[in-house]
Amino acid sequence: MKKRLFVYGLCLLGLPSGLLAKGDKETLLYKDAKVPIEKRIDDLLSRMTLEEKVSQLNQYTLGRNNNANNVGDEVKNVPAEIGSLIYFNSDPALRNQVQHKAMEESRLGIPILFAHDVIHGFRTVYPISLGQACSWNPKLVEQACAVAAQESRMSGIDWTFSPMIDVARDGRWGRVAEGYGEDPYANAVFGVASVKGYQGENMADGKHVAACLKHFVGYGASEGGRDYVYTEVSPQTLWDTYLPPYEAGVKAGAATLMSSFNDLSGVPGSANHYTLTEILKQRWKHDGFVVSDWGAIEQLRSQGVAASKKEAAMKSFTAGVEMDMMNNCYNKYLAELVSEGKVSKTSLNDAVKRVLRVKFRLGLFDQPYTPVIADKDRILKSESVAVAKKLAEESIVLLKNGNNILPLTRFSRIAVVGPMAKNKEHLLGSWSAHGRPEDVTSIYDGLESEFKGKAKLSYAKGCDFDGADNAGFAEAATAAKEADVVVICLGEKRGWSGENASRSTLALPQIQEDLVQEIKKQGKPIILVLSSGRPLELNRLEPVSDAILEIWQPGIAGGIPLAGVISGKINPSGKLAMTFPYSTGQIPIYYNARQSARPHQGKYKDIQTTPLYEFAYGLSYTTYQYGDLKASATAVKRGQKLTVEIPVTNTGARDGAETVHWFISDPTCSISRPVKELKSFDKQLIKAGETRVFRFEVDPERDLSFTDGTGKRILESGDYYIIVKDKMLNINILD
Ligand code: NOJ
Repeated sequence: MKKRLFVYGLCLLGLPSGLLAKGDKETLLYKDAKVPIEKRIDDLLSRMTLEEKVSQLNQYTLGRNNNANNVGDEVKNVPAEIGSLIYFNSDPALRNQVQHKAMEESRLGIPILFAHDVIHGFRTVYPISLGQACSWNPKLVEQACAVAAQESRMSGIDWTFSPMIDVARDGRWGRVAEGYGEDPYANAVFGVASVKGYQGENMADGKHVAACLKHFVGYGASEGGRDYVYTEVSPQTLWDTYLPPYEAGVKAGAATLMSSFNDLSGVPGSANHYTLTEILKQRWKHDGFVVSDWGAIEQLRSQGVAASKKEAAMKSFTAGVEMDMMNNCYNKYLAELVSEGKVSKTSLNDAVKRVLRVKFRLGLFDQPYTPVIADKDRILKSESVAVAKKLAEESIVLLKNGNNILPLTRFSRIAVVGPMAKNKEHLLGSWSAHGRPEDVTSIYDGLESEFKGKAKLSYAKGCDFDGADNAGFAEAATAAKEADVVVICLGEKRGWSGENASRSTLALPQIQEDLVQEIKKQGKPIILVLSSGRPLELNRLEPVSDAILEIWQPGIAGGIPLAGVISGKINPSGKLAMTFPYSTGQIPIYYNARQSARPHQGKYKDIQTTPLYEFAYGLSYTTYQYGDLKASATAVKRGQKLTVEIPVTNTGARDGAETVHWFISDPTCSISRPVKELKSFDKQLIKAGETRVFRFEVDPERDLSFTDGTGKRILESGDYYIIVKDKMLNINILD
């Protein structure tokens, strides 16, 4: 591979162009920062040879081999003309070395675009996206993404493959950890927040990066929760479920998208002209570019739509994938395809322009290098860590609090038990390449410092995450016996979710469940703490637990916010962005399913039909009373808006943050619509005893309409319901 790239690089260096002499570089139009970007692009494009153009459309990797002795070779092997590199390193110096080669050794001095999967933080790792969504605080998510952007850019990365906004409703699919849950609107709102955080106002300011909406589109529909498999997505579902987050992300200015592995009823996402060109480029006018997922072009062969890599290159490129990520298809065949007339010069030029546009917008032509500054000035800055902690805090969902056992204010001996209690690594979650376990505070350490002087802690691991070894049960039982309360810390290893990490069940491995049952025998109250990358099956653990807290994979904050919740310093405010089924056999189960023909029948014979914890569920240490829904008008004509409001009173003794979710329902329509659909949400701090009014401005065209299978929005006249918790208000759209 290395050898091949090297040869390829040499070929490019030897291009017969005669267009540019080295000394001319500084005087060229495309090098002039004062010239408008589109003019610079045109000027540069007019100077490029076919091979140089093709080079811009390829992405290789750099920095996987951290051995200092090999770095020189790595730099040598990267062609100076390459469009982009996935940069696995975090050292700006190596990037600069390679960039120097591109700027100085290539004929035109086109900077390389350095990319990486910065999914939930760079070094300051914050919670996985599924956890972030449970905060219902997009402003905070935007801040966290801005932190990730700053750390990345200052470490040599210009472009992150994030956010993932694939609506996902099957917790067996490991990638549910990477997205914002089961709802299209939530994915749209958090996707937009991420794009804003990553890209800021100006991607060229040295602190921001280009975002990448992925995986376009329908990947979340993976059958049976297995990865990389066939997906059946009807045109209707494509438009009303999978596309809306992408449309919002594109409108928010996302620079790039990644084409998906899956197919849409037989047409792979990476060879789909309809989604990539007709929808994305023609209808939505996206002017950035699409990168294939890793290997997604050559995989068109495995998917049975291309007989050769060359055909795969042709199909992907003509469908609208501009950049080839690690397929070696475009670099080998694109020039040939153009010469043979199978790919038009116009579409090649358009693709190159798109890639260059993103590079110009990132300011790479004017500032190709990353300033080399001390670690402490770019990573883990105190204000960055504070954002990560706050987001971890707001992500925590209190699922059960029997007899208000939490917060733990009246116990002096606390046993902390379970394989997650002292583990740091798994709290980082998947896709946290630059995260380090030593930056994480374990649950035990968090509790120890929180309860210092207030309670005595003991510890027993009890068992491992899986396997059958229960030799530690006795020690755990003794710890429980000698304590007043037991905090049992269970969950998933970081590698159990993320890409290619499906599980056949949402239940925890038997050994972990057995540990809880064993502790239960001691008769002490049980606080179950769960860290996972997906919703879990808790029907056997729920009855034996007095309280349950889901902390997801919180990142470096680890056990600190959790300890605050357990002690009562923090009032939990997270609510689920994804349903917790009663059992795995209920999957698919999600709140916004279409209406049933017989809503009161069709139940399971063996288990309850409702989930254990539904979407938007989450408890607090205080109580809220929802007043009556009121509308500024109950009947409006098309084109008119109305405002609905609801007063919410904090009837408890302590302040809390409450999220109001606004749903709509269309009881009769020309198509069967979901039982209810989330259209807005708002989180506000409500002081004890205070009443706050939550408002939602309903724009019927936007909030009550539906889309058909071609993307046409239709607003029908008639009745609609506005729903908040168990309150419902009827409004009418007049003819
Ligand atoms: C494959 C994954 O599907 C995608 O999400 C990721 O960005 C790329 N690999 C690059 O690592």
